[in-house]
Amino acid sequence: MNIKVSPSILSADFGKLNEEVASIEPESDILHVDIMDGEFVPNISFGAPVMKWVKTQLPQDYHLMTVKPWRYFDDFVKAGADRLIVHVEACDDLRGVLGQIIDAGAKPGVAIKPATSAESIKGVLDLLDYVLVMTVEPGFSGQSFMANMVPKMQQIRDMGFAGDMGPDGGIDDVNAKICAGAGANVMAAASYVFNAEDRLAALRSLRG
Ligand code: DX5
Ligand code: ZN
Repeated sequence: MNIKVSPSILSADFGKLNEEVASIEPESDILHVDIMDGEFVPNISFGAPVMKWVKTQLPQDYHLMTVKPWRYFDDFVKAGADRLIVHVEACDDLRGVLGQIIDAGAKPGVAIKPATSAESIKGVLDLLDYVLVMTVEPGFSGQSFMANMVPKMQQIRDMGFAGDMGPDGGIDDVNAKICAGAGANVMAAASYVFNAEDRLAALRSLRG
């Protein structure tokens, strides 16, 4: 399967965000944008008012680590989001929320925390463009990869899901290969890319 690399700007220098994005663009397929509200996760990142100033040619995935994520769907689409990824744990009516993403003009995705099973998304697989399997507890970049999440990725493929799917958290060249072996085709990574001396080489190494 063709691997897509998706650097997360959470480890970028926010003081010069456009330069930072330009530095990774040549070897990237998608820009991963981590939105955190200080409530769903114990950290606050940034929102649409920041992202509307970010210039990029890359498609943008917004990973929404917030409660009631639907409140800002329109703002995120206006800011440049192509795909909106909500947490299963934040949505009681998951199908309804995914419908709202489509209505807002974006592609729908879901993210699942380490303690959440693959079965939790079984009923909505037909709607999904992307499944993001958290391989750390969401909230911070720079944490260690949870290898026990690898079977969950395989399980999602075994359920017949053929869309984009991949890990988020602790991804480097070695862990990316392990995830690809379990059917993952999108590699989201923050610190491994942005802390690398040669960011473009780091991105290439994620392709396996
Ligand atoms: C974690 C975020 C991740 C994070 C990844 O809550 O969703 O996207 O930025 O960071 P690394 O790759 O450093 O683990
Ligand atoms: Zn993320």
